[in-house]
Amino acid sequence: MKMLVLNHKMNFTYDEVNDYIKKINDIKTNKLNLVVCPSYIYLTFFKYNNYSLGSQNVGMIEKGSLTGEISAMQLKKVGVRYCIIGHSERRMTLKETNEMINKKISLLQYNNIIPILCVGETLEEKRANLTIEVIKEEIDKAFMDISNIDNIIIAYEPIWSIGTGVIPSSVEIFNVIKEIKEHINVKYSTKLKVLYGGSVNSENINYLEEIKNIDGYLVGGASLDTKSVSHIINVMEEKYDS
Ligand code: PGA
Repeated sequence: MKMLVLNHKMNFTYDEVNDYIKKINDIKTNKLNLVVCPSYIYLTFFKYNNYSLGSQNVGMIEKGSLTGEISAMQLKKVGVRYCIIGHSERRMTLKETNEMINKKISLLQYNNIIPILCVGETLEEKRANLTIEVIKEEIDKAFMDISNIDNIIIAYEPIWSIGTGVIPSSVEIFNVIKEIKEHINVKYSTKLKVLYGGSVNSENINYLEEIKNIDGYLVGGASLDTKSVSHIINVMEEKYDS
């Protein structure tokens, strides 16, 4: 089943999120796995009958003295089933390292929360032909000493595409996802789902859905508008049917 992960980032006031919840609770889908990742403070507002609940981050220690952070166990207990890890905004702005991401993955797995690991290259790295190298390093460092990686989901998000409205060509996306899958297959002898993220919206979803090896999407900006979300779901479901 394909996935659609909605990353609200740091958006919505109290009133806005309540309005959004009314609308998202009405969206029906049984052909794809919809995951909503609101800000921490709203997690418990979501009813998640027709979607699963996801977190945008998790604290890097088990519990206790880490002011302002939320643990994997706390997330688990309010119904969180997925957690975005290593988003480029956290890696770049908050200086999150591969080592921190690796710790977070083990804590999530211990609490049966599925990590959605974000990887991707900057524009400079792309221009220098380093895309695959950078991604492999992010994956290998994140997976270090993790005994079972079978339930991890990868989100390929070219950093230059996030929030910019610019997406790679379908050939570029296909090739990067192919290489990610091959790497995981060869090095870890398993198959993982690979999502695409970066400026996915209701205008380009038809184009993206033509790419054969994408297992779903991680959507930021367009996820804030339930009309766009419905449209994206409709296109994905039509594709599923055809
Ligand atoms: P975007 O964000 O859809 O607004 O580009 C995607 C993401 O950062 O996960």
